[in-house]
Amino acid sequence: MITTFHLPTKIIFGPGSLARLGEEARRIGPKAILVTGSRSMRKTGVLDRVVHDLKANGVDTLTFDKVESNPRVSTVDEGAAIARGKGVDLVIGLGGGSAMDAAKGIVLASTGTESIWHYIKAEVEAKSPVPSLILVPTIAASGSEANNGAVITKWETREKMVFFNPYLFARVSIIDPELTLTLPEKPTAQGGVDIFCHVVESYLTTRKAFPLTDGIMETTMRLVVESLPQVLARLDDIEARTRLSWASTIACSQFVELGGGGGARTLHGIEHPLSGYYDITHGDGLAALLPAWMRYTLPAKKERFYSLGRNVFGEADGILATEKWLEKIGMKLRLQNLGIEIERMEDMANCAVRTAPWLRHHPRLLDAAAVRQIYQDSY
Ligand code: NZQ
Ligand code: ZN
Repeated sequence: MITTFHLPTKIIFGPGSLARLGEEARRIGPKAILVTGSRSMRKTGVLDRVVHDLKANGVDTLTFDKVESNPRVSTVDEGAAIARGKGVDLVIGLGGGSAMDAAKGIVLASTGTESIWHYIKAEVEAKSPVPSLILVPTIAASGSEANNGAVITKWETREKMVFFNPYLFARVSIIDPELTLTLPEKPTAQGGVDIFCHVVESYLTTRKAFPLTDGIMETTMRLVVESLPQVLARLDDIEARTRLSWASTIACSQFVELGGGGGARTLHGIEHPLSGYYDITHGDGLAALLPAWMRYTLPAKKERFYSLGRNVFGEADGILATEKWLEKIGMKLRLQNLGIEIERMEDMANCAVRTAPWLRHHPRLLDAAAVRQIYQDSY
């Protein structure tokens, strides 16, 4: 089997690395749009620091700070129109996965007049010149900084779609764990669950074991399992935050599948309709669904669950160990506590099958009936 590893992103990692942003941006182009969320970067003072640094490096920057969590098609289109009007060379995404994914959408949609939705549906292609992308994550969670995927929601139809495009690889990603120090407990825990799921889903659904891939995946999962409780105990623990940031950048990128292994992130496919329909936080949806998704998968992958227990938690039962860990980090959740309604489960299950074609790669049939059953078992 031939595997291709292609990651054309310069990754600059480390506490204090944010100071490199201005000079990296200057090398790319004189006109930029800075894409971020509506509150946290302004509140923490990071936005002022970044705008000042870009100005000092001669980069004429316009700030677009309207990105909401679970970013909408309409927000991306609004940002794209502004970027197009300014004729930017560079799009900078500063924030969590929502801001970074919106920045990715703006890179594509700013090259034409069509909505980003048409790019998601692969009905149109980016027109040259395509602006370059710099990403600066401020949460250890999505890993958007090291992949060419994005997740954007068409709010009118509640369709939350994952899509990939070569132009969505950042030219430069600057991962500064110091930026995550201002993140409170809840979003820190939600982000940690997201990182863990990015790896455990692929690990448990892999076609067969590959020693290098297993080594990378088990190490990355142990890093999250051990570092997250340390961070939750002391939010300003920069060493533990740094370990969490490394795990985040690796977990949803090709790095984690080096060595030829890797399966399908099917739990993500059935979570996205929940955050699409109810605008809940992605990490909460994953935490609520994980145990039932695991129990549904167990019969087809008993040996992988045993390896998970033994090599990640040092316990015999990988599912019980995972549930204990979720409890320890305050993320043992039920769908009813997240406002999910039984009446809409069938609709969401059909939406999952429609919007996540990779469900067919699950080691056990994951059709609408099975998805609905997992929702029901997580209620
Ligand atoms: O809204 P703002 O002001 O930005 O505040 C944010 C938001 O309220 C706040 N925040 C961010 N950095 C902070 C901070 N608060 C204090 N200090 C900081 N340093 O945290 C809140 C959550 O931010 P958000 O970006 O929504 O969270 P996350 O990073 O978990 O991203 C979630 C989005 O990423 C997508 C999800 O579906 C969801 O839309 N994903 C993207 C992926 C990808 N591109 O590869 C993969 C993931 O599986 C995920 O699906
Ligand atoms: Zn995720």
